[in-house]
Amino acid sequence: MSKAKGSFNKLTTHRLQEMKASGEKIAMLTAYDYSMARILDDAGIDVILVGDSASNVMAGNETTLPITLDHMIWHATSVVKAVKRAFVVVDVPFGSYQGNSSEALRSSIRIMKESGGHAVKMEGGVEIKESISRVLSAGIPVMGHLGLTPQSIYKFGTYTVRAKDTEEAEKLKSDAKLLEDLGCFGIVLEKIPADLAKEVAESVSIPVIGIGAGPDVDGQVLVVHDMLGITQDFKPRFLRQYADLNKVISDATTNYIKDIRSGGFPNDKESY
Ligand code: KIV
Repeated sequence: MSKAKGSFNKLTTHRLQEMKASGEKIAMLTAYDYSMARILDDAGIDVILVGDSASNVMAGNETTLPITLDHMIWHATSVVKAVKRAFVVVDVPFGSYQGNSSEALRSSIRIMKESGGHAVKMEGGVEIKESISRVLSAGIPVMGHLGLTPQSIYKFGTYTVRAKDTEEAEKLKSDAKLLEDLGCFGIVLEKIPADLAKEVAESVSIPVIGIGAGPDVDGQVLVVHDMLGITQDFKPRFLRQYADLNKVISDATTNYIKDIRSGGFPNDKESY
């Protein structure tokens, strides 16, 4: 069973592998800053993904494409400082690994050295196999990401469910097997049919983490701002919102403004 609050047994790729083998589900969330990472880690999250979704939720960009390697390292460094137990995976951003395997290695080494993250994640299968192999050969754990890969959004042209037709489903299955054979420690499957995700999870021995990929995988990941209800206007079917922080923060801000305007804040006890 996953260790809960207060336990500081560090998560490792080995432990994640054991969890897959024993059927313990893996809980993963994104984080991009120290304060949020500290809350998630204290609450017992297994894996924190410093996702390039920071481009959307932290910087307000429409896609993940604009975020740079320097930005990712900045976010990852803040997260790593907060974490005592979780395994920290850092996205290698668009344009810093697709070009060639030397660039992929250089980018991944920078992430590991400068941020202290524990692993990197790259989007794609056979197209980036040289990059994945080169990074793995340097002893850096790599997580794959298949299905809807947001760095390729302009190629897809839409955020709808991927791999619904046989050809794309077959490619996804063969990519998943390839990622396992290359030595990846895990795979994220994003927005694909639940039956296909189940088949993939059963066919590989490494953990498969789903987002919009149904229940029959080894763990789940969500973007923390979506899951906490901070994000507005993004409510895909796969998202379960566990809080309404948008309302909490908005109400608190309204009350704060009211108190200042009425002279109610600060009071005597809040003054020196
Ligand atoms: O960047 C991100 O947040 C991700 C998740 C959606 C898996 O890659």
